[in-house]
Amino acid sequence: MLSLQGKHIVLGVTAGIAAYKSPEIVRRLQDHGADVRVVMTPRSEEFITPLTLQSISRNVVEDDIFDRSLPDSLGHLGLGSWADLVVVAPATADFIARFRLGMGDDLLSCLCLSARCDIVIAPAMNQQMYASAATQSNLEILQKRNVLIWGPDSGYQACGDIGKGRMLNPNILEQKVIEYFSKKV
Ligand SMILES: Cc1cc2nc3c(=O)[nH]c(=O)nc-3n(C[C@H](O)[C@H](O)[C@H](O)COP(=O)(O)O)c2cc1C
Repeated sequence: MLSLQGKHIVLGVTAGIAAYKSPEIVRRLQDHGADVRVVMTPRSEEFITPLTLQSISRNVVEDDIFDRSLPDSLGHLGLGSWADLVVVAPATADFIARFRLGMGDDLLSCLCLSARCDIVIAPAMNQQMYASAATQSNLEILQKRNVLIWGPDSGYQACGDIGKGRMLNPNILEQKVIEYFSKKV
C-alpha cells in the first residue's frame, strides 16, 4: 500500500558518517509513494555525493543557498513551503547547534527556519558528542520548540565506541514517517 502517496518530504542530509544510509531512506520513502527532495549541507558532500542522491531521488539535489539558477532566487524558502515534513537524517551535533541558535548560514538551516511543516531530526554522532551538555541542552530546547527528535539508537559506532548516538536505521525511520502521517489524518 502506498501510505505516503502525495506526501512531499524533504530529506536533509548533514555531514555525519551515517550519511551513507541516506539513499536507503530516500528509496524507502519513495517505495511508499512519497515525493522526496534532498537538501544537503555543503560538508555532507564529503560523505555522500549529490549525484548519488539525485539519481536515487530522481529530483535535483539542493545544496547552495546562493543558487542563481533559480529564477526567483528564493530557493532558500521554496522547499520550506513545498514540504509536508522535513526529516534531517543524519543530523550532526553541529547542525543541531545551528538549528537551536536559529542560524541560517546554509540552505538546510534556512529551510528549517522557514518551514511551515513539522521538522524531524535524527541525531547521529559519537556517544561522547551526544552525551555532552551542549548537545543535550540543544536537543532539549529544540524539543520544547516542537521539533520531533527521533533516536538516537545505542550500539557499535563507526569510531569504535559503544553507546548512544547511532542514527536510527532507515527501516525504523521509514516506519516512523508512516506513523507520523497516519496520525495526522
Ligand atoms: C570522518 C568524520 C566523521 C564524522 N562523523 C560525524 C557524525 O557522525 N556526527 C557528527 O555530529 N559529526 C560528525 N563529524 C563532524 C562533522 O562532519 C562536522 O561537525 C561538520 O562541520 C558538520 O557539518 P554540517 O552539520 O554542516 O553538515 C565527522 C567528521 C569526520 C571527519
